Amino acid sequence: MTQELSTTTPPQLARQTRNWWHDAVIYQVYVRSFADGDGDGIGDLRGARDRLPHLAALGVDAVWLTPFYASPQADGGYDVADYRAVDPLFGDLSDADGLVREAHRLGMRVIVDIVPNHTSDQHAWFRAALAGGPERAYYHFRPGKGTNGELPPNDWESVFGGPAWTRVPVPDGNGRTSQPEAGGEWYLHLFAPEQPDLNWDHPAVHEEFASVLRFWLDLGVDGFRVDVAHGMVKADGLPDIGLREQAKMIGAQVLPFFDQDGVHEIHRTWRRLLDSYDGERIGVAEAWAPTPERLALYVRPDELHQAFNFQFLRCPWDPDRMREVIDASLAATASVGAPTTWVLSNHDVVRHPTRYGDGPTGLRRARAASLLMLALPGSAYVYQGEELGLPDVTDLPDEVRQDPSFFRAEGQDGFRDGCRVPIPWTREGSSYGFGSGGSWLPQPGEWSGLSVEAQTGVPGSTLELYRAALAVRREHPGLGAGDSVTWLEAPAGVLALAREGFVCTTNTTGTAVELPVPGSVLLSSAAPEFTGGTVRLPADSSTWWAI
Ligand code: BGC
Repeated sequence: MTQELSTTTPPQLARQTRNWWHDAVIYQVYVRSFADGDGDGIGDLRGARDRLPHLAALGVDAVWLTPFYASPQADGGYDVADYRAVDPLFGDLSDADGLVREAHRLGMRVIVDIVPNHTSDQHAWFRAALAGGPERAYYHFRPGKGTNGELPPNDWESVFGGPAWTRVPVPDGNGRTSQPEAGGEWYLHLFAPEQPDLNWDHPAVHEEFASVLRFWLDLGVDGFRVDVAHGMVKADGLPDIGLREQAKMIGAQVLPFFDQDGVHEIHRTWRRLLDSYDGERIGVAEAWAPTPERLALYVRPDELHQAFNFQFLRCPWDPDRMREVIDASLAATASVGAPTTWVLSNHDVVRHPTRYGDGPTGLRRARAASLLMLALPGSAYVYQGEELGLPDVTDLPDEVRQDPSFFRAEGQDGFRDGCRVPIPWTREGSSYGFGSGGSWLPQPGEWSGLSVEAQTGVPGSTLELYRAALAVRREHPGLGAGDSVTWLEAPAGVLALAREGFVCTTNTTGTAVELPVPGSVLLSSAAPEFTGGTVRLPADSSTWWAI
């Protein structure tokens, strides 16, 4: 490291109000697809640092960086081999330090990912565990069922498809091993076999993660997005579930491996650790819980600060369902005194323009949904490329795919590569300005016209819509504040919500709808037309009004 570590909050951030995270707009950088600084076709920390001015100009409050730690990349870096090292693919520790400092200089905070549910199978602990060391107790090793232990210990399925167990050879005590068939045990991996689950009943696991958190907090990060925050604790005895297709039950019910009550004690300990640092460092739960009430448990005052509201992300383009989910989410978080955290896209789901119908209809709805989301009380996450209106890439050839879920039949949707295609910065050039050496997934030709360069300064472009929306949010601090909305009378298919001095109307129907003018237009995803005292809201559009 060439620079001294930044352990205290920089003055430009300290000036920002208390509870900065209550209404923060946080931009997700999927590092390998954001910007490539060294021309190897894979995004990296230097590339991301060079593009920070784009994010500052967009007007976001913070940046969340997906894992850039040493990793064999069996699951896009969510298989960590060394939690304190930067993978050479992405740079080195001084690049991480430089990025954090530069973001702070530009007035943005930085959140990094922490992956505590599992390590990589190349982590020193797991390698030692396979060789028969005491580290075996840090994971879930069990004998198999059947006459010769040839069947997995229970019926749990991997989120990525197939059994959640892999059998390993018997260690011979000298670091050598026999064939797996010769009586070896099985280890648990809720994701890929290269991601063995940690045993959070072991104190060494707690100590190690507390130390890793301190390492990054000492470097100056403002918080952590906690990967699989609902998964670290497993039900006693690892009981069978008795049902197949368990991936479909995630987020719909409590499973013996997800959303167990025991996880909350870990989050409490982490909260105390975060609070021991200055500058309001935060923890964000990536937690799939069956109800808004169970999700709210993760953001009780002594637990994490935010939890992604996936109920909203999963909600179809249906005004009644949207209103229901908004109300239920606000009520649940308000009951524990926490803000709600909205999100429409991320690196694990089909991008929202494609979810809402693809083509021009999907884009219109996506722009309208984004304005609706940014009008709600709470914090909002923006996934890279969302500000450009990028659709999912649905026609990637099989041979370029890298998502492990694609290769494990019957797992998740298998299309996560489609939302991870490197984003376009310029109209021309290798990989549209992503980097000088091509791009690890092919970009569609139409993305030239969706690039940052092509949209900058173009009235009505999605990029200018996001820039304007974030500017209005800053000028009207009431937007994002509070914990409830007032619903106004509106024609069928129109959502109209009021906040102090402000109204947002969303026409979810496929035709224009007329209503009395609610106020003066601040911003719209498609221009409304006025006749006397009435206004026609275009199909699939949102408008912000000052009242
Ligand atoms: C991450 C995924 C990852 C999984 C396993 C998820 O929550 O967002 O990208 O595959 O955790 O770490």
